[in-house]
Amino acid sequence: MIVRQLSGRGFLNSHLTDMARPSSDLAALREIFSEAKNVAIITGAGVSAESGVPTFRGAGGYWRKWQAQKLATPEAFSRNPSRVWEFYHYRREVMLTKNPNPAHLAIAECEERLSKQGRTVTVITQNIDELHRRAGSKNLLELHGSLFKTRCMSCGHEAANYTSPICAALEGKGAPDPDTNDAQIPVQQLPRCEHEDCHGLLRPAVVWFGETLDSDILTRAEKVLDSCDLCLVVGTSSVVYPAAMFAPQVAARGVPVAEFNMENTPATMRFKFHFHGPCGTTLPPALERHETEQT
Ligand code: OAD
Repeated sequence: MIVRQLSGRGFLNSHLTDMARPSSDLAALREIFSEAKNVAIITGAGVSAESGVPTFRGAGGYWRKWQAQKLATPEAFSRNPSRVWEFYHYRREVMLTKNPNPAHLAIAECEERLSKQGRTVTVITQNIDELHRRAGSKNLLELHGSLFKTRCMSCGHEAANYTSPICAALEGKGAPDPDTNDAQIPVQQLPRCEHEDCHGLLRPAVVWFGETLDSDILTRAEKVLDSCDLCLVVGTSSVVYPAAMFAPQVAARGVPVAEFNMENTPATMRFKFHFHGPCGTTLPPALERHETEQT
């Protein structure tokens, strides 16, 4: 059973002393890319940062006085469903004003181009913002679910939901400022299930801390990771399991891994390449058409 949790950093930091520093040689990565048949791209919140979506472990990682991960738990929802819905309502409404950035677009364009050459690109994302999907990525595994899906606590029915606001009582609620009071919306006025007159309480269909990941999605991700011959890991702090161990596992079987990040992570030293800087700038040149590619 794979439960989502913060990593013990010890796993990623062990046995690093004999490792070479990762290279930032773009031409060398491009050579490998030109030969790769199956490319896995693991992404985290940093890939959406240049779209204006706050990351979790940066300055924008708070909503009111809570760290996002304190609200993203089943316990927080059962204690205070109104507060947790305000938090997710806020995130949904913010996302409706954001758009994919050059990193999302470069990934989607690369998938489409390589698919015409019989090569595959698969995105494995921890993000729940759907920006990869909106950019055009099709071969996409959303490990942590989506902000725009709901699941019924009573009947389990899952449905896409882009309604804004998601229910009348949440209209104008969810302000993130630390001095905002909870709206304390009665549970009957929170989003309710409309499937076959169920009326059960809906929750966001996202994977919260302490919950298990969808086993079908996880199995598909493992298959992609086991068969890829190049892996890119973009904008993730590599501290939340199980995604944190995906790229190090690929590197451990000798497959080149390239990290694109603003900073080093606990996994950086395990990788062949590290490209420092905003991925909206660093990623597109890595993924653009290589001169040896067929058209
Ligand atoms: P984090 O917020 O932990 O990490 C974001 C990473 O992106 C950091 O390593 C930043 O250095 C990097 N970064 C920021 N801006 C960037 C840019 N423009 N280009 C490249 N890199 C940039 O986000 P995740 O690793 O995705 O779960 O976090 C994993 C999970 O933990 C998330 O799914 C989330 C969080 O708690 C929840 O939903 C609560």
